[in-house]
Amino acid sequence: MRAAVVKKAGGPEVVEVMEVPLPEPGPLEVRVKVAAAALNPADAAVWAGFFALPEGIEYTGLGLDAAGTIDAVGPGVLLKVGTPVIVFDAPVLRPTKAQAEYLVTDLNSIAPAPEGMDLTLAATIPLNAMTASLALDHLPLRPRDTLLVTGAAGAVGGYAVELARTRGVRIVAQGRPEDEEFLRDRGATWFVSRDEDPSEAVREFVPEGVDGVLDAAALGAPALAAVRDGGVFVSVRFDTLPTPERGVAVRHTAAGPEPTRLAFLSALAEVGVLTPRVAQTFPLSEAAAAHTQLAVGGARRGRIVLVP
Ligand SMILES: NC(=O)c1ccc[n+]([C@@H]2O[C@H](COP(=O)([O-])OP(=O)(O)OC[C@H]3O[C@@H](n4cnc5c(N)ncnc54)[C@H](OP(=O)(O)O)[C@@H]3O)[C@@H](O)[C@H]2O)c1
Repeated sequence: MRAAVVKKAGGPEVVEVMEVPLPEPGPLEVRVKVAAAALNPADAAVWAGFFALPEGIEYTGLGLDAAGTIDAVGPGVLLKVGTPVIVFDAPVLRPTKAQAEYLVTDLNSIAPAPEGMDLTLAATIPLNAMTASLALDHLPLRPRDTLLVTGAAGAVGGYAVELARTRGVRIVAQGRPEDEEFLRDRGATWFVSRDEDPSEAVREFVPEGVDGVLDAAALGAPALAAVRDGGVFVSVRFDTLPTPERGVAVRHTAAGPEPTRLAFLSALAEVGVLTPRVAQTFPLSEAAAAHTQLAVGGARRGRIVLVP
Protein backbone atom coordinates (compact mmCIF):
# COMPACT_ATOMS: atom_id res chain seq x y z
CA MET A 1 0.00 0.00 0.00
CA ARG A 2 1.04 3.64 -0.37
CA ALA A 3 1.83 5.88 2.61
CA ALA A 4 3.12 9.43 3.10
CA VAL A 5 6.40 9.13 5.00
CA VAL A 6 9.35 11.22 6.18
CA LYS A 7 12.90 9.84 6.23
CA LYS A 8 14.82 12.96 7.22
CA ALA A 9 14.01 16.38 8.65
CA GLY A 10 13.60 19.36 6.34
CA GLY A 11 10.88 21.36 4.65
CA PRO A 12 7.59 19.91 3.35
CA GLU A 13 9.44 18.60 0.30
CA VAL A 14 10.86 15.77 2.45
CA VAL A 15 7.39 14.23 2.55
CA GLU A 16 7.29 11.35 0.08
CA VAL A 17 4.77 8.70 -0.88
CA MET A 18 6.15 5.18 -0.97
CA GLU A 19 5.06 1.54 -1.02
CA VAL A 20 5.07 0.03 2.47
CA PRO A 21 3.82 -3.35 3.74
CA LEU A 22 0.07 -3.58 4.38
CA PRO A 23 -0.24 -3.51 8.20
CA GLU A 24 -2.10 -6.38 9.90
CA PRO A 25 -4.33 -5.77 12.94
CA GLY A 26 -3.26 -7.46 16.18
CA PRO A 27 -5.45 -8.23 19.23
CA LEU A 28 -8.05 -5.50 19.87
CA GLU A 29 -6.90 -3.65 16.76
CA VAL A 30 -8.65 -2.83 13.49
CA ARG A 31 -7.38 -1.99 10.05
CA VAL A 32 -9.09 1.04 8.52
CA LYS A 33 -9.27 1.69 4.80
CA VAL A 34 -8.56 5.41 4.91
CA ALA A 35 -11.05 7.58 3.01
CA ALA A 36 -9.50 10.88 4.13
CA ALA A 37 -6.70 12.08 6.42
CA ALA A 38 -6.42 15.67 7.63
CA LEU A 39 -3.18 17.66 7.93
CA ASN A 40 -2.41 19.49 11.17
CA PRO A 41 0.36 21.75 12.52
CA ALA A 42 1.70 18.67 14.36
CA ASP A 43 2.57 17.11 10.97
CA ALA A 44 4.77 20.09 10.18
CA ALA A 45 6.54 19.50 13.50
CA VAL A 46 7.29 15.94 12.33
CA TRP A 47 8.80 16.82 8.94
CA ALA A 48 10.65 19.78 10.45
CA GLY A 49 12.40 17.36 12.81
CA PHE A 50 10.88 18.56 16.09
CA PHE A 51 10.43 14.88 17.04
CA ALA A 52 13.72 13.13 16.18
CA LEU A 53 13.43 9.68 14.58
CA PRO A 54 14.73 7.08 17.04
CA GLU A 55 18.04 5.39 16.10
CA GLY A 56 17.53 2.57 13.59
CA ILE A 57 14.11 3.76 12.36
CA GLU A 58 14.23 4.41 8.61
CA TYR A 59 11.05 6.45 8.24
CA THR A 60 7.88 7.57 9.99
CA GLY A 61 4.38 7.95 8.67
CA LEU A 62 2.40 11.18 9.05
CA GLY A 63 -1.03 12.20 10.24
CA LEU A 64 -3.07 12.12 13.44
CA ASP A 65 -6.57 12.35 11.94
CA ALA A 66 -8.40 9.98 9.63
CA ALA A 67 -11.82 8.76 8.62
CA GLY A 68 -12.57 5.57 6.73
CA THR A 69 -14.14 2.14 7.00
CA ILE A 70 -13.07 -0.90 8.98
CA ASP A 71 -11.35 -3.23 6.55
CA ALA A 72 -10.11 -6.05 8.82
CA VAL A 73 -10.31 -6.81 12.54
CA GLY A 74 -7.85 -8.45 14.93
CA PRO A 75 -8.63 -11.06 17.60
CA GLY A 76 -11.20 -9.92 20.16
CA VAL A 77 -12.80 -7.22 18.01
CA LEU A 78 -16.56 -7.53 17.48
CA LEU A 79 -16.96 -4.53 15.14
CA LYS A 80 -18.07 -5.30 11.58
CA VAL A 81 -15.94 -4.85 8.49
CA GLY A 82 -17.36 -1.90 6.52
CA THR A 83 -18.24 0.20 9.62
CA PRO A 84 -17.42 3.91 9.01
CA VAL A 85 -15.14 5.30 11.74
CA ILE A 86 -13.11 8.34 12.66
CA VAL A 87 -9.59 7.77 14.00
CA PHE A 88 -7.46 9.75 16.39
CA ASP A 89 -4.06 8.28 15.47
CA ALA A 90 -2.15 9.70 18.43
CA PRO A 91 1.33 8.09 18.33
CA VAL A 92 3.50 10.72 16.66
CA LEU A 93 6.20 8.52 15.12
CA ARG A 94 5.27 5.18 13.53
CA PRO A 95 5.95 3.63 10.11
CA THR A 96 2.33 3.78 8.98
CA LYS A 97 0.02 6.47 10.18
CA ALA A 98 -3.16 8.18 9.06
CA GLN A 99 -1.88 9.60 5.77
CA ALA A 100 -1.84 6.25 3.98
CA GLU A 101 -4.18 3.91 2.16
CA TYR A 102 -4.64 1.75 5.28
CA LEU A 103 -4.09 2.33 8.97
CA VAL A 104 -3.96 -0.11 11.88
CA THR A 105 -5.13 1.29 15.18
CA ASP A 106 -6.54 0.09 18.49
CA LEU A 107 -10.11 0.26 19.73
CA ASN A 108 -9.33 3.22 22.02
CA SER A 109 -8.52 5.38 19.00
CA ILE A 110 -11.70 4.99 16.95
CA ALA A 111 -15.33 6.03 17.16
CA PRO A 112 -18.30 5.72 14.80
CA ALA A 113 -18.14 8.37 12.08
CA PRO A 114 -20.97 10.94 12.16
CA GLU A 115 -23.82 9.29 10.27
CA GLY A 116 -24.50 10.89 6.92
CA MET A 117 -21.36 13.05 7.00
CA ASP A 118 -18.86 12.97 4.16
CA LEU A 119 -15.74 11.19 5.47
CA THR A 120 -13.55 14.02 4.13
CA LEU A 121 -15.24 16.37 6.60
CA ALA A 122 -15.31 13.74 9.35
CA ALA A 123 -11.51 13.34 9.11
CA THR A 124 -11.10 16.87 10.47
CA ILE A 125 -12.82 16.10 13.78
CA PRO A 126 -10.64 13.88 16.01
CA LEU A 127 -7.46 15.73 17.04
CA ASN A 128 -8.85 19.23 17.22
CA ALA A 129 -12.26 18.52 18.72
CA MET A 130 -10.57 16.28 21.32
CA THR A 131 -8.09 19.05 22.14
CA ALA A 132 -10.79 21.71 22.43
CA SER A 133 -12.95 19.44 24.60
CA LEU A 134 -10.08 18.51 26.93
CA ALA A 135 -8.94 22.12 27.21
CA LEU A 136 -12.45 23.16 28.27
CA ASP A 137 -12.41 20.44 30.93
CA HIS A 138 -9.34 22.17 32.40
CA LEU A 139 -11.37 25.39 32.75
CA PRO A 140 -13.74 25.29 35.73
CA LEU A 141 -16.32 27.52 34.05
CA ARG A 142 -20.00 27.74 34.99
CA PRO A 143 -22.83 29.08 32.83
CA ARG A 144 -22.45 32.84 32.23
CA ASP A 145 -18.74 32.80 33.15
CA THR A 146 -16.53 34.43 30.54
CA LEU A 147 -13.97 32.73 28.28
CA LEU A 148 -11.52 34.21 25.78
CA VAL A 149 -10.68 31.85 22.91
CA THR A 150 -7.62 33.04 20.98
CA GLY A 151 -7.21 31.81 17.40
CA ALA A 152 -10.94 31.13 17.54
CA ALA A 153 -11.34 30.69 13.78
CA GLY A 154 -8.71 27.95 13.69
CA ALA A 155 -9.41 24.23 14.03
CA VAL A 156 -9.00 23.95 17.83
CA GLY A 157 -10.44 27.43 18.42
CA GLY A 158 -13.51 26.88 16.25
CA TYR A 159 -14.46 23.65 18.03
CA ALA A 160 -13.71 25.32 21.39
CA VAL A 161 -16.21 28.10 20.66
CA GLU A 162 -18.88 25.59 19.65
CA LEU A 163 -18.28 23.38 22.70
CA ALA A 164 -18.10 26.32 25.12
CA ARG A 165 -21.49 27.46 23.86
CA THR A 166 -22.99 24.12 24.94
CA ARG A 167 -21.77 24.92 28.49
CA GLY A 168 -23.59 28.27 28.58
CA VAL A 169 -20.33 30.19 28.78
CA ARG A 170 -20.09 33.75 27.43
CA ILE A 171 -17.34 33.69 24.82
CA VAL A 172 -14.96 36.39 23.63
CA ALA A 173 -13.68 35.06 20.30
CA GLN A 174 -10.46 36.43 18.85
CA GLY A 175 -9.86 36.29 15.12
CA ARG A 176 -9.44 38.28 11.92
CA PRO A 177 -12.23 40.77 11.13
CA GLU A 178 -13.41 38.50 8.29
CA ASP A 179 -13.95 35.69 10.86
CA GLU A 180 -16.39 37.69 13.00
CA GLU A 181 -19.60 36.54 11.33
CA PHE A 182 -18.59 32.86 11.45
CA LEU A 183 -17.61 33.14 15.11
CA ARG A 184 -20.82 34.89 16.15
CA ASP A 185 -22.82 32.25 14.25
CA ARG A 186 -20.96 29.51 16.12
CA GLY A 187 -21.72 31.00 19.53
CA ALA A 188 -19.35 33.87 20.31
CA THR A 189 -20.94 36.56 22.47
CA TRP A 190 -18.25 39.12 21.66
CA PHE A 191 -15.54 39.42 19.01
CA VAL A 192 -12.06 40.94 19.31
CA SER A 193 -9.65 41.42 16.43
CA ARG A 194 -6.27 39.67 16.53
CA ASP A 195 -4.77 43.07 15.66
CA GLU A 196 -5.62 44.33 19.15
CA ASP A 197 -3.92 43.54 22.45
CA PRO A 198 -6.23 40.79 23.80
CA SER A 199 -5.88 41.96 27.39
CA GLU A 200 -7.09 45.49 26.55
CA ALA A 201 -9.68 44.34 24.01
CA VAL A 202 -11.55 41.98 26.38
CA ARG A 203 -11.88 44.70 29.01
CA GLU A 204 -14.28 46.58 26.75
CA PHE A 205 -16.75 43.72 27.44
CA VAL A 206 -15.47 42.23 30.71
CA PRO A 207 -13.77 45.06 32.67
CA GLU A 208 -12.22 42.83 35.37
CA GLY A 209 -10.80 40.37 32.82
CA VAL A 210 -12.21 37.03 31.67
CA ASP A 211 -12.63 34.03 33.97
CA GLY A 212 -10.65 31.82 31.63
CA VAL A 213 -8.58 31.74 28.45
CA LEU A 214 -8.26 28.89 25.98
CA ASP A 215 -5.12 29.94 24.12
CA ALA A 216 -5.55 28.13 20.80
CA ALA A 217 -3.29 30.70 19.07
CA ALA A 218 -0.47 29.89 21.52
CA LEU A 219 0.04 33.57 22.39
CA GLY A 220 1.16 32.88 25.96
CA ALA A 221 1.72 35.93 28.20
CA PRO A 222 -0.41 38.47 26.22
CA ALA A 223 -3.39 36.12 26.49
CA LEU A 224 -2.73 35.38 30.17
CA ALA A 225 -2.95 39.14 30.80
CA ALA A 226 -6.63 39.02 29.71
CA VAL A 227 -7.56 36.73 32.64
CA ARG A 228 -8.93 38.17 35.88
CA ASP A 229 -6.96 37.61 39.10
CA GLY A 230 -7.41 34.00 40.23
CA GLY A 231 -8.77 32.83 36.85
CA VAL A 232 -7.49 29.98 34.67
CA PHE A 233 -5.34 29.95 31.54
CA VAL A 234 -5.15 26.83 29.36
CA SER A 235 -2.57 26.35 26.64
CA VAL A 236 -2.52 23.75 23.87
CA ARG A 237 1.27 24.03 23.51
CA PHE A 238 3.75 23.28 26.27
CA ASP A 239 6.42 25.44 24.58
CA THR A 240 4.40 28.66 24.95
CA LEU A 241 3.32 28.31 28.59
CA PRO A 242 3.51 31.71 30.30
CA THR A 243 4.74 32.26 33.85
CA PRO A 244 1.79 32.22 36.28
CA GLU A 245 0.89 35.59 37.82
CA ARG A 246 -1.85 37.16 39.99
CA GLY A 247 -3.06 33.75 41.18
CA VAL A 248 -4.01 32.72 37.63
CA ALA A 249 -3.66 28.94 37.23
CA VAL A 250 -1.71 27.98 34.09
CA ARG A 251 -2.58 24.59 32.60
CA HIS A 252 -1.63 22.60 29.54
CA THR A 253 -3.67 20.21 27.41
CA ALA A 254 -2.36 17.28 25.39
CA ALA A 255 -4.96 15.13 23.67
CA GLY A 256 -4.67 11.35 23.98
CA PRO A 257 -6.90 8.40 23.03
CA GLU A 258 -10.29 8.55 24.79
CA PRO A 259 -12.91 6.57 22.88
CA THR A 260 -15.93 7.79 24.85
CA ARG A 261 -15.02 11.45 24.33
CA LEU A 262 -14.30 10.82 20.64
CA ALA A 263 -17.68 9.11 20.19
CA PHE A 264 -19.44 11.98 21.95
CA LEU A 265 -17.73 14.56 19.73
CA SER A 266 -18.63 12.55 16.64
CA ALA A 267 -22.26 12.55 17.79
CA LEU A 268 -22.12 16.34 18.31
CA ALA A 269 -20.84 16.74 14.75
CA GLU A 270 -23.62 14.47 13.50
CA VAL A 271 -26.31 16.73 15.00
CA GLY A 272 -24.62 19.93 13.82
CA VAL A 273 -23.21 21.22 17.13
CA LEU A 274 -19.67 20.95 15.73
CA THR A 275 -18.81 22.27 12.28
CA PRO A 276 -15.98 20.36 10.55
CA ARG A 277 -14.36 22.46 7.82
CA VAL A 278 -12.28 21.42 4.82
CA ALA A 279 -10.29 24.06 2.96
CA GLN A 280 -8.78 21.89 0.24
CA THR A 281 -8.27 18.24 -0.70
CA PHE A 282 -5.24 16.66 -2.37
CA PRO A 283 -4.75 13.09 -3.62
CA LEU A 284 -2.35 11.09 -1.44
CA SER A 285 0.08 11.03 -4.37
CA GLU A 286 0.44 14.81 -3.92
CA ALA A 287 1.20 14.64 -0.20
CA ALA A 288 4.29 16.89 -0.51
CA ALA A 289 2.21 19.57 -2.26
CA ALA A 290 -0.42 19.32 0.48
CA HIS A 291 2.22 19.75 3.19
CA THR A 292 3.70 22.68 1.28
CA GLN A 293 0.25 24.28 1.32
CA LEU A 294 0.09 23.62 5.09
CA ALA A 295 3.44 25.38 5.51
CA VAL A 296 2.42 28.36 3.39
CA GLY A 297 -0.88 28.78 5.24
CA GLY A 298 -3.84 30.10 3.40
CA ALA A 299 -6.69 32.51 3.40
CA ARG A 300 -9.39 29.82 3.47
CA ARG A 301 -10.54 28.41 6.79
CA GLY A 302 -10.56 24.66 7.34
CA ARG A 303 -8.20 21.74 7.09
CA ILE A 304 -6.20 20.43 4.16
CA VAL A 305 -7.20 16.80 3.64
CA LEU A 306 -5.46 13.98 1.77
CA VAL A 307 -7.64 11.52 -0.10
CA PRO A 308 -5.94 8.15 -0.88
N1 LIG B 1 -1.87 19.85 22.72
C1 LIG B 1 -2.45 19.20 21.75
O1 LIG B 1 -2.78 18.02 21.89
C2 LIG B 1 -2.73 19.93 20.47
C3 LIG B 1 -3.64 19.39 19.55
C4 LIG B 1 -3.96 20.12 18.41
C5 LIG B 1 -3.35 21.34 18.17
N2 LIG B 1 -2.44 21.81 19.06
C6 LIG B 1 -1.81 23.13 18.83
O2 LIG B 1 -2.86 24.06 18.87
C7 LIG B 1 -2.56 25.19 18.06
C8 LIG B 1 -3.74 25.47 17.14
O3 LIG B 1 -3.88 24.40 16.24
P1 LIG B 1 -4.92 24.54 15.05
O4 LIG B 1 -4.89 23.27 14.33
O5 LIG B 1 -6.19 25.06 15.57
O6 LIG B 1 -4.22 25.65 14.17
P2 LIG B 1 -4.92 26.63 13.11
O7 LIG B 1 -6.12 25.97 12.53
O8 LIG B 1 -3.83 27.10 12.23
O9 LIG B 1 -5.44 27.82 14.01
C9 LIG B 1 -4.57 28.67 14.68
C10 LIG B 1 -5.28 29.98 14.84
O10 LIG B 1 -4.46 30.89 15.57
C11 LIG B 1 -4.44 32.13 14.88
N3 LIG B 1 -3.19 32.83 15.14
C12 LIG B 1 -1.94 32.46 14.81
N4 LIG B 1 -1.05 33.38 15.23
C13 LIG B 1 -1.75 34.35 15.84
C14 LIG B 1 -1.42 35.55 16.48
N5 LIG B 1 -0.15 35.96 16.58
N6 LIG B 1 -2.40 36.30 17.00
C15 LIG B 1 -3.68 35.91 16.93
N7 LIG B 1 -4.08 34.76 16.32
C16 LIG B 1 -3.12 33.99 15.78
C17 LIG B 1 -4.59 31.77 13.43
O11 LIG B 1 -5.07 32.89 12.73
P3 LIG B 1 -4.78 33.10 11.15
O12 LIG B 1 -5.11 31.81 10.50
O13 LIG B 1 -5.70 34.20 10.82
O14 LIG B 1 -3.34 33.43 11.04
C18 LIG B 1 -5.61 30.64 13.52
O15 LIG B 1 -6.92 31.14 13.58
C19 LIG B 1 -1.29 24.82 17.31
O16 LIG B 1 -0.21 25.44 17.97
C20 LIG B 1 -1.21 23.31 17.46
O17 LIG B 1 0.11 22.84 17.38
C21 LIG B 1 -2.13 21.15 20.20
